Amino acid sequence: MLEEIKQYAKDHQVPIICDDGLLFLSKVIQEYPIKQVLEIGTAIGYSALAMASLGCKVDTLERKLEMYELAKINLETYDKNNQIKLIYADALTYHGELKTYDLIFIDAAKAQYQRFFEKYMPYLNPKGIIVCDNLRFHDLKPENVNRHTKQLLRKIETFKAFLLNHPEFKTTFVEQGDGMSISQRK
Ligand SMILES: C[S@@+](CC[C@H](N)C(=O)[O-])C[C@H]1O[C@@H](n2cnc3c(N)ncnc32)[C@H](O)[C@@H]1O
Repeated sequence: MLEEIKQYAKDHQVPIICDDGLLFLSKVIQEYPIKQVLEIGTAIGYSALAMASLGCKVDTLERKLEMYELAKINLETYDKNNQIKLIYADALTYHGELKTYDLIFIDAAKAQYQRFFEKYMPYLNPKGIIVCDNLRFHDLKPENVNRHTKQLLRKIETFKAFLLNHPEFKTTFVEQGDGMSISQRK
């Protein structure tokens, strides 16, 4: 099931979590252990289904209609136990119902990571964790990219500094995936 969705993503250039990123996320889910997840950035539902397959309940937000529709089809097909709640919304402005979560997985617009973190951290359970993906951003170097990407790289660096200096959270960065962070309340 996941292989099929992964192949679709590859064929249609849909960005999804890479294999070792998912492996890392799966280990985190099993070690803590995680039951309730909030995901920012569904795309076509690949990571949400992967987390559900580990027993998690997942609320996942997607702002792009095309992605949301594809995710809806995938979840109707594969989320047999209704573990995933798909929400069509921009996570920056969403004010609908939420629970509290053991894991918040941020995998959406990279320039907005700090805003996502600040907006959703009140929904984290006391021992919960926040994981962010793509902090290495394909190892792009500022000297080789256009102005827009340069700005994005700067924002990612600012976000990493924000995490490191956060008074309430202790953050570890790992190389797995496209560079991930794992933050837990001190
Ligand atoms: C990297 S993809 C998510 C991949 C997915 N987590 C996976 O691994 O299968 C990022 C997704 O976040 C969505 N996104 C970006 N900004 C968002 C926002 N502010 N609110 C909700 N979704 C957003 C994009 O439309 C895109 O589909």
